[in-house]
Amino acid sequence: MNRREKFLAALGGEAISPPPLWFMRQAGRYLPEYRATRAEAGSFLDLCYDSEKAAEVTYQPIRRYDTDAAILFADILLIPDGLGQGVSFVQGEGPKLFPPLRAENFDDLSYEKFDETLSPIYETVRQLRAGLGNATALIGFAGAPWTVATYMIGGGTQRDPSVLRRYYYDDPSFVDRLISLLVEATAKYLIKQADAGADAIQLFDTWAGGLPEDLTRRLSLEPMARIAEMVRSAHPEIPFILFPKGVGPLAKEYAGLGICDGIGIDTGMPWDWARDNLSPLACVQGGLDPLLVVAGGAPMHDAARRLKETFHGTPYIFNLGHGFVPETPPAHVAELVDTVRSS
Ligand code: CP3
Repeated sequence: MNRREKFLAALGGEAISPPPLWFMRQAGRYLPEYRATRAEAGSFLDLCYDSEKAAEVTYQPIRRYDTDAAILFADILLIPDGLGQGVSFVQGEGPKLFPPLRAENFDDLSYEKFDETLSPIYETVRQLRAGLGNATALIGFAGAPWTVATYMIGGGTQRDPSVLRRYYYDDPSFVDRLISLLVEATAKYLIKQADAGADAIQLFDTWAGGLPEDLTRRLSLEPMARIAEMVRSAHPEIPFILFPKGVGPLAKEYAGLGICDGIGIDTGMPWDWARDNLSPLACVQGGLDPLLVVAGGAPMHDAARRLKETFHGTPYIFNLGHGFVPETPPAHVAELVDTVRSS
């Protein structure tokens, strides 16, 4: 099997040894070649909407590490941009969305510019599919509705995004309308990524943690399931990886969904618990603390070996518990890949 086949076989329920691997935020500021392309592009959004440059930064980690999968270079906040909420990325301050979304300005969102705004992303996917050939899998992605909603309502990054649940308690119909719109818009976006050649889809619910159990289901799990069902009705075979960060034991309910092929585990998830409870339901992905890759050396290698051993004999994809941070030394990533691939 080549790398792409191994990645897809793991998602299909096969135990592959050594496990296939890729990394969240494998393209990004920790790579000097990314910083160079990013500087040429101008703004971060200009980079996302320039198909050649976005494809180039997608290839950069593949060239260095030959990971089993590439992830489309884009961002979860392109959906609000496509729906007409202003989005900008201010250096050192993170994303800004304006004006913050409220029931009063909800009707300003529209599909008028959606296809036109997002068409460069589909072009990036087509270029990547052709450029990667058959040997490397290509992951398309989007943010899950609740995570995207926290940026839209909060107007940017919140210290604790889960506090935005108070908007649900104050006006459930506002938040429900927003989630429904995001389900529909995200499904349209992902169907086009799949049409353009994505092999698998990951949904990032970075801010799923911190919600009470009933709201976790209503705002995170159920909307993710609806998106996957809509995409599957157009692309019945496409595998889905769900990454509901911070949901603890509720991860079992996500993994048990019929549409869940892969379940991402965050840094805080106990590995033995995940193997015993999630592996029977879906292919587990991830778990390594990204800060161990900043540290490098024996702590990183020991943890990587233990992680591999924990999931040995089960369908598993090696990855992190969250993305690489900009301080990560690229040489540590190369050493980590060697450790994971040596038996
Ligand atoms: O390599 C990859 O993983 C693919 C590309 C990718 C990016 N963002 C590129 C990016 C992916 C999959 C994302 C997902 C994303 N974006 C998430 C979910 C996953 C996660 O990391 O939690 C979220 C919450 C976002 C929203 C977002 N985008 C924020 C909060 C920021 C600012 C972060 C910061 O520290 O400044 C971004 C910008 C962003 N997205 C960068 C990259 C490489 C850095 C921007 C730059 O180059 O200046």
